[in-house]
Amino acid sequence: MKIPFADPLLGDEELNNVIDAVKSTWIGALGKYLGQFEKDFSGYLGSKHASTVTNGTVAIHAALLALGIKPGDEVIVPDMTFVATANAAAFIGAKVVLADVEKDTWNIDPKEVAKKITKKTKAIIPVHLYGHPADMDPIMELARKNGLFVVEDCAEAAGAEYKGRKVGTIGDIGCFSFHASKLITTGEGGMCVTGRKELWEKIEHLKNHAMDEKRRYWHDMIGYNYRMTNIQAAIGVAQLRKLDRIIEKKRRIAGKYMDFLEGVGDIRFPAEKEWAKNVFWFFSMLSSKKDAIEIALKNRGIETRPFFWPMHELPMFRSSEKFPVSSMLHREGISLPSSALLEEGHIREVCRVIKSVF
Ligand SMILES: Cc1ncc(COP(=O)(O)O)c(C=O)c1O
Repeated sequence: MKIPFADPLLGDEELNNVIDAVKSTWIGALGKYLGQFEKDFSGYLGSKHASTVTNGTVAIHAALLALGIKPGDEVIVPDMTFVATANAAAFIGAKVVLADVEKDTWNIDPKEVAKKITKKTKAIIPVHLYGHPADMDPIMELARKNGLFVVEDCAEAAGAEYKGRKVGTIGDIGCFSFHASKLITTGEGGMCVTGRKELWEKIEHLKNHAMDEKRRYWHDMIGYNYRMTNIQAAIGVAQLRKLDRIIEKKRRIAGKYMDFLEGVGDIRFPAEKEWAKNVFWFFSMLSSKKDAIEIALKNRGIETRPFFWPMHELPMFRSSEKFPVSSMLHREGISLPSSALLEEGHIREVCRVIKSVF
């Protein structure tokens, strides 16, 4: 039985938009779907401005550049995240300062952030890991008190909500990824959203080689080519219309996993705080038997994913400091097949194999 791990939900809507984009000959970084995707996406989130970019990594890089982060500035990121969060700060030459995460939400712990703030700190990047929002109120409060910027890494959490607000609309800039495994996809792709026009203008400027809009081939700084193509945006427009349906499906999948695995061994499930809407990008869980579960599923051809390596273990960000929670998550965390294409039979089969391990 082939069990889809993260396969995207694609159909005629995406195909028809792509055909339309190709027929129009606008297949590069201009064309009607780009503006439409930005308008639809900001409308969906309740944000004022959105700017499409090449991927989620450069979305964070562009956000930090727009906020004026400079070499030597300190940027606080969670120790448990995908490496792109930390890399984006490192691209600038900023110092990556790691903070441990919470045991239940697996997201950056505001108490740990508070300990890491120095005179050089300029920004915090909370990550909404695996679809559960980070606890934004205390993070925003720390930022306000210390004059820091907040860039939300929403790569894994499009549509997730914190106290009724969509993630990405709470900090200064929200950054999204549309990589093929994400809730919605454009193959590769990303988006920055912000409520502040001047930040949006800066991102638009620097993603297009920092070219002056009125004076062609005049560049007032070193810019980047971080533009999305009209073909990608054409897919994005169709995908966004499915996002709520995909989230509903992901939540149902998570509910089934938790029903079928309730009380099995020492398995612990992801949280959904009373203030949160978790979009369960990947259904991820913890168990001391993670390695055995991974092998048993692999032996039946079922794909899983380990949690990320903690940033402090990677050569670029190595630190001898202890990060007990993120280390435990890395040891015990595993993500199960979570594609919106999953059927109940698939989930039952995955759970049957997991139960056989205990
Ligand atoms: C938490 C997190 N941040 C950033 C990224 C980077 O996004 P992309 O792959 O689109 O560059 C990803 C996903 O890949 C991610 O999971």
